[in-house]
Amino acid sequence: MQISAVSNRINEWSGSVLIVGVLEETIDNQINLFKTIIKDTYLNQRFNEAKFKGKKNQKLSIEIIEGKVQKIVFVGLGKAEDLLIDDLRKAASIGTRQVLSFERKVGIFFPWDAFDMSSAAFAVSEAVRLTSIKDLRFKSETKESTQIDKVELIGLDVKVAELAISEINPICEGVKLARELVSAPPNFLTPSELANEAKKLAADYDLDLKILDKKECEKKGMGAYLAVAKGSDLDPNFIHLKYSPKIVKNKIVLIGKGLTFDSGGYNLKVGASQIEKMKYDMGGSASVLGAARAIGELKPSNTEVHFIVAACENMINGSALHPGDIVKASNGKTIEVNNTDAEGRLTLADALVYASELQPNAIVDLATLTGACVIALGEEIAGLWTENDQLSEQLARAAGKAGEGIWRMPMRDSYKSGIKSSIADLQNTGPRAGGSITAALFLKEFVNSSIPWAHIDIAGTCWTEKDRDITPKGATGYGVRTLVNWIKELNLKSN
Ligand code: BES
Ligand code: MN
Ligand code: ZN
Repeated sequence: MQISAVSNRINEWSGSVLIVGVLEETIDNQINLFKTIIKDTYLNQRFNEAKFKGKKNQKLSIEIIEGKVQKIVFVGLGKAEDLLIDDLRKAASIGTRQVLSFERKVGIFFPWDAFDMSSAAFAVSEAVRLTSIKDLRFKSETKESTQIDKVELIGLDVKVAELAISEINPICEGVKLARELVSAPPNFLTPSELANEAKKLAADYDLDLKILDKKECEKKGMGAYLAVAKGSDLDPNFIHLKYSPKIVKNKIVLIGKGLTFDSGGYNLKVGASQIEKMKYDMGGSASVLGAARAIGELKPSNTEVHFIVAACENMINGSALHPGDIVKASNGKTIEVNNTDAEGRLTLADALVYASELQPNAIVDLATLTGACVIALGEEIAGLWTENDQLSEQLARAAGKAGEGIWRMPMRDSYKSGIKSSIADLQNTGPRAGGSITAALFLKEFVNSSIPWAHIDIAGTCWTEKDRDITPKGATGYGVRTLVNWIKELNLKSN
């Protein structure tokens, strides 16, 4: 898909489909304008019959028999005074869904000047692109579905939009990679296959790659991570990718939970716990590798970025973890595993110790960690835990810019009593109440406390059961754009 800004006047544009954003206040002007462009004297009636008033989420498609355009999709943007960039993104995806089965060259005519033009151009372009991604890898019939070839943003200053548009491809390819990794089932995306994906990234974008096998992890004393992997016939792979700029002013580590399948272990996922969905338990690692894909191409000038995934499966066999086992993490802390289904935090524990040893300026982990977070915040908002106000603000701003929901949650120290063990230093599971908070407090035990650290629980946001905004049903790729925005801003600040 090729995206460009064109400075044409709207009446000079030709193509298959035109998506027009309509503000409530300007609806009459728009009708009059298009009446002359498409020579349709009944346009007023069509708008009236459809009760199209330009309200948010309203849409009206009009097929055109003769003319330079075959179809116009009007999408409501609401009132000008309430208009946010998120509304442009949403409207662009509503419009795009009307186009999908149609075709080819799409024009977008939005009130660009209500915003900083390059941000508006970026948001709309990424929306079109991300809405129209289809994952056909596992279909036997490869019949090409119609795709949009060309998108033109009409009436934009070409120079102003240029830089924004140049970043669309790396970022959207990062999101696409993340979605594909999450969608891939556990018989395809195994821990070693995830490592292969990292290998491809390293080769394509000149990143350094270290993959620690089981033996090397044993040598490092990663007893918590390895305990989870024990119950699987597939060996664990500890993945460490690194992007190095020429000058290093900032060093950050991104960690993603990488359970290619989570059966729960002997605390097997039964009943409503949706074991069949647990291919997405590597959603954190997908976001992190998606970010690596984008960063590898964007090449920030002064920020070194490490991407870490302790990949494995949580399965059951004769040597699997027993509920009640005591294991030792690489920082020496002992953990009583009172629930084998709280496995993500065990793998993250050793990843956080490893990350701390790199002495970065910040660590951020993303994980499909707790069902409790889904209950608390739903599918559109991820939970953010950090004791560092500055990091919290930075990440919230980065997520806001991406239109990805995030909400800071408390790290209440007194809840630590929930993960106290009578026999070991810690137990891996606290009471049901406040389950996402005790999970975050557990992770904190493995981070060097002098390093700013944030944990993002994406259990709800990494997957959607229906088409939502810029995401088709399925894997969302949540987090990639937040992480990339954050890194870009850090990089800019230290320039
Ligand atoms: N991967 C799950 C969390 C999860 C649940 C993600 C639902 C997405 C949807 C995690 O490993 C898990 O099983 N957590 C347990 C923790 C509990 C045993 C303390 C949970 O949330 O039930
Ligand atoms: Mn689990
Ligand atoms: Zn899990």
